[in-house]
Amino acid sequence: MSIQFFAPRGPGNEVVKIPREMRKTVKWLPQIGDIFPDFTVETTQGRLRFWDWAEGQWTHLFSHPAAFTPVCTTEIASFASLQDQWAKHGVQNLALTGSTLEEQTRWHDDINSIFNVKVDFPCAHDPGQKLATLFGMMHEKESTEWSIRKSFLIDPSMKVRMAFEYPIFVGRSGEEILRTLQALQLRDRTGAATPADWLEGEMQIVPDDRPESAVIRDFGTPSLYLSPYLRVAGWT
Ligand code: BEZ
Repeated sequence: MSIQFFAPRGPGNEVVKIPREMRKTVKWLPQIGDIFPDFTVETTQGRLRFWDWAEGQWTHLFSHPAAFTPVCTTEIASFASLQDQWAKHGVQNLALTGSTLEEQTRWHDDINSIFNVKVDFPCAHDPGQKLATLFGMMHEKESTEWSIRKSFLIDPSMKVRMAFEYPIFVGRSGEEILRTLQALQLRDRTGAATPADWLEGEMQIVPDDRPESAVIRDFGTPSLYLSPYLRVAGWT
């Protein structure tokens, strides 16, 4: 786990000035590459110990502000409607919010009747938003009452592979989270990087040191140098 000390120095060893209220504080936040901490929560599908539940599969762990709020309603409906896609890519969702389980269960019934979609992933109650605070999901300048919309993609070895933060009044895109997941899984399989706006099936960025014969084997096409530092392959 990484520790973020707020006494940083710049590249020339000069002091980097930090806003006064943040000085002399020490915070840990899950970063890309960290093993995500273990924790136990009560969810709409029973008690869950995170490492036991998540290890061996991909996880999309996400916070949202509260049940019975408009943007959250559309997000939960969107994530639930993508259930076949999550399953196809071996991903399970886990939601985290300050609302009680009883509130969340009633809310899911509403979501079902509005959008005709069943919420069939566990949604956890985080009393006092203690976990949300620990995981960097409470941004006090956005709200002291509600968490922001933070998403983590955590791989089967419990390593954080993606983290992003959205404000309270902007809903996330389930499709974008899935797109990022596909890019991460592709990288693990082939070592490819993915260009901006990449979608599954489109060309990928090939490591410079990969022999051409291996490119044809791994990517299914020869490679092409679009510039001396941009080698691509794998278009269909
Ligand atoms: C929402 O629309 O999801 C929302 C609105 C106000 C506060 C928190 C969440």
